[in-house]
Amino acid sequence: MFDLTNYINNKNQQINAELEKLLLGCEKAQPLVDAMRYSLMAGGKRIRPVLCLAAAEAVGGMAEDALTTGCALEMVHTYSLIHDDLPAMDDDRKRRGKPTCHIAFDEATAILAGDALLTVAFEVLSAMNFTENSTQAVQRLNVIQTIATAAGCRGMIQGQMLDIASEGHRVSREDLEGMHALKTGALIEASLQCGALLGRASKSQMEMLKTYAANIGLAFQVADDILNVEGNPQLMGKDVGTDALREKSTYPSLLGIEASKRFAWDLIQNALQAIETFDKKSEPLRAIAVYIIERKR
Ligand code: IPE
Ligand code: IPE
Ligand code: MG
Ligand code: MG
Repeated sequence: MFDLTNYINNKNQQINAELEKLLLGCEKAQPLVDAMRYSLMAGGKRIRPVLCLAAAEAVGGMAEDALTTGCALEMVHTYSLIHDDLPAMDDDRKRRGKPTCHIAFDEATAILAGDALLTVAFEVLSAMNFTENSTQAVQRLNVIQTIATAAGCRGMIQGQMLDIASEGHRVSREDLEGMHALKTGALIEASLQCGALLGRASKSQMEMLKTYAANIGLAFQVADDILNVEGNPQLMGKDVGTDALREKSTYPSLLGIEASKRFAWDLIQNALQAIETFDKKSEPLRAIAVYIIERKR
């Protein structure tokens, strides 16, 4: 049977080693780089880079070809968490089992560490390799554009804006879905899309992966909402009950816990169905889909 824990641990070793390597270029920027490293290496699940590598493999490509891109995605994600936790945003004190960046350092350093992680991600992605041919260069541009679009005002940041604006208001189910798809779904979708691009996916593989990605991306945030109600803060490494405290618009607040769980499970079924025709190399993607709603952290 496929062992997902082993697969994730294995990939995480490669991702963490590569992240350390990529940070070496920033060493002189003290104390900025300490704050960047503090949050980046605090022990996140690395689900976005793992999805990126797994997508490359699922379409018949090599995980190694997607490693730098996976790390850039993790940098963008970590920046989003640092800023998400700031007093002006969710005002959280724990993340990845440790005090949040602005508590461990200070607010200004946390803001700048986030800025620097976002920027360095694109520095790393755009670094020229002079042996690459024009097809590879176009592919790289495509990856950069995909991540930039997903991270910005047509993706994650617009989702974050809607999240903040909807505090204390009751939003429609349609609007909630749109907000979750943007704030969390967009970067997860980009992770799969980039992995597939770098693995040289066919058009039809790409289409099927898009459906898989949209479904697990939304399910990921529904699961995050559910964990915020009934999760174990020790396992999660962050506080629970905070969404209700801040009157966030979430699936449990709109539908209740049981209906939210059923909805998350339906999304995962859709995702699994979308990649039904993929071969054995897509086993990690199938296992990750289920893990997304069964996870305890
Ligand atoms: C948490 O993301 C924030 C969301 C977008 C839901 P993760 O659950 O992937 O957090 P880490 O990276 O493992 O800390
Ligand atoms: C985080 O959403 C989304 C981004 C950081 C883009 P949440 O605010 O719901 O995530 P947690 O619960 O703090 O991890
Ligand atoms: Mg938030
Ligand atoms: Mg938050």
